[in-house]
Amino acid sequence: EWTAGNIVEEQVAAIREQVGDARVICGLSGGVDSAVAAALVQRAVGDQLTCVFVDHGLLREGEAEQVERDFVAATGAKLYVADEKERFLQALAGVTDPEEKRKIIGREFIRAFEAAEAEVLKEAAADGARVQFLVQGTLYPDVVESGGGEGAANIKSHHNVGGLPEDMEFKLVEPLRALFKDEVRAVGAELGLPAEIVQRQPFPGPGLGIRIIGEVTEDRLRILRKADAIAREELTKSGLDQEVWQMPVVLLADVRSVGVQGDGRTYGHPIVLRPVSSEDAMTADWSRLPYDLLATISNRITNEVEEVNRVTLDVTSKPPGTIEWE
Ligand code: XMP
Repeated sequence: EWTAGNIVEEQVAAIREQVGDARVICGLSGGVDSAVAAALVQRAVGDQLTCVFVDHGLLREGEAEQVERDFVAATGAKLYVADEKERFLQALAGVTDPEEKRKIIGREFIRAFEAAEAEVLKEAAADGARVQFLVQGTLYPDVVESGGGEGAANIKSHHNVGGLPEDMEFKLVEPLRALFKDEVRAVGAELGLPAEIVQRQPFPGPGLGIRIIGEVTEDRLRILRKADAIAREELTKSGLDQEVWQMPVVLLADVRSVGVQGDGRTYGHPIVLRPVSSEDAMTADWSRLPYDLLATISNRITNEVEEVNRVTLDVTSKPPGTIEWE
């Protein structure tokens, strides 16, 4: 019988058997899959697990804290946080091309993860421990998409941990390999992870880096983070966030338009709301959000985010538009 409780019990036993007394590391991305996979391994082997979270500074408001505080509080897992904000800002300086941004973020992520991993390995070695296992949040659809077998880990690694160093030869622990997304959420809830983690909508690995159209700077990240937090708060309040697949909030950082506030002229940046409904992100339609909700979001963003004086709605389906703007 399929219950989240049974899955947890079964996987905990399987992980204990696979891992024995070796040490395990797990990269956390801030997403659902890696969090649930880590929580399962934590339940199974406790302190043998060290989680690694690379904070690239491209997350939304509260997300890094969610990993650092809520995840640890819910699971008791050991967490190694690598503050790599500077590395990413420097690497992205002056870059505006979307593909170039993605490549840079992917590359720096691998470097940052390897550096963090090396630190964790060093600590483990000092304890005389063997680190032989790496946890991956591979889901069943990932396994199917890649034709099963080894490729699955590769696909996921691009998104989650950023590629495994070839000479490390970790064995993989993939406790979610038989599960679909909704089952993963149920298992996460069963393990006591908070709703903010298990009910999260999809969020791209390159994060806000591909939602700032133009160069990524600290200041622009701050502006977008603020606008995005308002939009998410209002969407959640409206109770519609389960119907909406995701709602990217995009900053047109290189565009300015004239506005008026009080009795003064403004010359600010537009924000784009991109709410979409979708089954699998392969195709999508723009969500018909209620006008009142859109009005509230627009009013709040233009009132509370000084640099933004215009809020626009993206009414393009996919295809021809993609969900993200870059
Ligand atoms: P697009 O923009 O291609 O997005 O319609 C489809 C879905 O994928 C997410 N997305 C990504 N996820 N790494 C990820 O982990 C990425 O580089 C990436 N790019 C897009 C996007 O948010 C949407 O859910």
